[in-house]
Amino acid sequence: MNELDSTIGVKKIELLFAENIDFPSINISQEKKSLIEKIRIKHLLWIPRLLFTRTYRALPKILKDIFFSLSIIHKSPASKMFARTRYDEFRILIDAKVSSMSLKAVPDHYVDVVKDTFNAGFYKTNLSDLSELDEIIEDVVNTTNPSHAGARPYFKDGKNEKIEGSYSAYYSFSKEYNQKMNKILHSDLTNDFNYHLSALAGYKCTFDDIIYSLSVVYGANSNDEMHQDTFSSVAKGFLYLQDIGSNNAPFEYLEGSYADAKFRSKETNKAVLENDSHSSGSTRLRGQKLQKALKKYKLQSFTGSKGLFVLANTAGYHRKGIHNSSKPRIILACGVKRKGVISKFLINLVAMVKFKFIQERN
Ligand SMILES: [Fe+2]
Repeated sequence: MNELDSTIGVKKIELLFAENIDFPSINISQEKKSLIEKIRIKHLLWIPRLLFTRTYRALPKILKDIFFSLSIIHKSPASKMFARTRYDEFRILIDAKVSSMSLKAVPDHYVDVVKDTFNAGFYKTNLSDLSELDEIIEDVVNTTNPSHAGARPYFKDGKNEKIEGSYSAYYSFSKEYNQKMNKILHSDLTNDFNYHLSALAGYKCTFDDIIYSLSVVYGANSNDEMHQDTFSSVAKGFLYLQDIGSNNAPFEYLEGSYADAKFRSKETNKAVLENDSHSSGSTRLRGQKLQKALKKYKLQSFTGSKGLFVLANTAGYHRKGIHNSSKPRIILACGVKRKGVISKFLINLVAMVKFKFIQERN
């Protein structure tokens, strides 16, 4: 029996790469179903969301800025008129205020550490046993087709120059697998995990809300550019399935950049005024601007052993570190749903009232 046949999961993906086997070597043909067969009740629930995004896309730039100012999908100002004002700075400040409401529902003995997480924009912990994940990983790679999930083989600078050797594949897990993975990983987490997660997401949420995808990345891609995902706090996670050193594309983050509304809005406004239409609103820091940011904030490069789990608020600046290794980088990328400022406010308000009520009763 050769080595490939006797391994599964992460090790097998590494072997496929090492043996230069085109990966994924299969284009899985999905069972053909008619449109009616494909539609399920849950899909009908997507209609309001679809209408919402369609309306957004159809609106002129100035109206987008007016009506979608607090929406999570309005990543940066659309019109130059608003980019010349403090519009983006104000909405970042409002988002930071609303997101910080999640700290009001944290028990006293955790408040300080969770505040540190909120201010720094990241949290890290270590999970000890990931062996049970390999079977799930093996199955998802063999049965689903991957997507690029925004990691493109060119930089988003408008030049469209293909990056040689760039490879990225993101595999989504079924709901059942997600639940199974949450169960496996939950046992390793400390009791304060949900508070850190909520502080980074900007609203009260829990570990069970996390959705995973398997990310296999090789070489450089558009995520190598330092960028913010959107104006409003978003929690993303990176669970390392291999030991990751400085040449294995570690996740990198500019500590404390999320809360700097002045800096972020200034850079975003500049990008809008300079006709940056390629970043889809996730504005980038390049050249001098990047150098300035690297002096202003501490660059956290998350190298570490298999099992390192980093959570970050990706409204702060971040990037994929350099990949200069023969092995692909394999991680579980994860996150909770992105929420707009109004939803965050309502969720946090309810959480605060509940928390106060429970505290008073005790
Ligand atoms: Fe990002």
